[in-house]
Amino acid sequence: MSDATAKKEQRRKLQAIKGTRDILPPETQLWNRVEQTAHEVFSTFGCGEIRLPIFEPTELFARAVGGETDIVSKEMYSFDDRDETSISLRPEATASVCRAYIEQGMQQLPQPVKLYYMGPMFRRERPQKGRYRQFYQIGAEILGGTDAPAIDAEVIEMLMTYFDKVGLHGATLYINSIGHNAENCRRGYVAQLKSALEKVKDQLGPDSQRRIDTNPLRVLDSKLESEQAIIATLPHIADHLCDECKTHYAEVKRQLEVRGVLYQENWRLVRGLDYYMRTTFEITAPGLGSQNAVCGGGRYDGLVELLGGPPTKGIGFAIGEDRLILSLQECGKGDVQQGRDVYIAWMGERAYAAAVHAAKDLRKAGFSVELPPVEQKFGKALGQADKLGAKYALILGDNEVSEALWTLKTLATGEQQKFPEPELIDYLKKGHQ
Ligand code: HAM
Repeated sequence: MSDATAKKEQRRKLQAIKGTRDILPPETQLWNRVEQTAHEVFSTFGCGEIRLPIFEPTELFARAVGGETDIVSKEMYSFDDRDETSISLRPEATASVCRAYIEQGMQQLPQPVKLYYMGPMFRRERPQKGRYRQFYQIGAEILGGTDAPAIDAEVIEMLMTYFDKVGLHGATLYINSIGHNAENCRRGYVAQLKSALEKVKDQLGPDSQRRIDTNPLRVLDSKLESEQAIIATLPHIADHLCDECKTHYAEVKRQLEVRGVLYQENWRLVRGLDYYMRTTFEITAPGLGSQNAVCGGGRYDGLVELLGGPPTKGIGFAIGEDRLILSLQECGKGDVQQGRDVYIAWMGERAYAAAVHAAKDLRKAGFSVELPPVEQKFGKALGQADKLGAKYALILGDNEVSEALWTLKTLATGEQQKFPEPELIDYLKKGHQ
């Protein structure tokens, strides 16, 4: 490589990979608030946090999520480890939670085991507003115990309680039941759906045409405008559920009503992962455009067994944290504290020593403080305080140190007051309440 080319290479801007992004302060405060609220609300429902690996054997997702799903067939970041086993960045966490349930012998614990998690997931989707290749989920899974409809309803109640606490308004809950995998239930329905789809095949787009063979239920998910009228004529799963699944679904709805949770039924809600059975649900939120699903979930009673564990009931959900944050911001609920509380404008050696102490005491009392590292003229310091969005400037010069009285300037009003140090902290604390 010539010197010139090498220099050009060096100057080439290094950028984050498409579909990934940096989340910066002050927005990270909102992320922390949203996560902290999840810790608080989920623990009131008896859930404990599980921390999972970011990568897992590819086979885990192929078996759990399904080899034919978009997620596994097109969207995973998979690579061979040095020992040539295939590993993948996790595209979701339900599979990992079930793996951990089996591997850690959690079936020995009192059932059900209630777990929640948060963290990054990876899917190689086409990036757009609310859709990223590295995105974040906050999820919960309830494993073991019974498949009582009260559990489905309580999981959804927890979710809605969380959304309420975090300040998300205008969310809509959609529910459905996709029955179970038996001839007299979903399998019978899928056969009927398939033959109905064959009849209208030439009116469908290429994706839906392909899905008639690979996963006909997913045709119901289609957002293509041109397919909507045709989909509306297809048979509904509710008419094909077996008696047990029908009763289960009716009871889930009743249990939601008992809890005062509002819902809308959506017979087309089939979800894009293979492990679901019976209850499925999704929540949409305002301000998100086409990617408006802020949460998805459902029941997956056969999954632990499919992964080599004992027969185990399971239900859970995952919230798209990026979308939740976007929706909060769009609805004016994403306020974060901008700037510092106090900027210390000091001049002179003696004042500097006092400033260092003041910074220590103020920080101890919980205020965010900016202490400039080098002396500046007061005018410049006040300009700097303004730029940083500070609420107050604490002015410390020779006079203040000699009098042991500190000057506090409220930057919004320009008002100045003098205080002995202990009173200053009390005053600020009162202003902070
Ligand atoms: P999912 O519907 O694939 O379900 O994802 C859940 C949520 O993650 C979506 O509703 C959306 O908010 C968010 N999400 C998904 N993909 C992206 C993306 N590329 N960019 C931004 N946000 C995204 C699951 O993952 C299941 N594991 C949920 C579950 C848990 N079911 C039972 N337990």
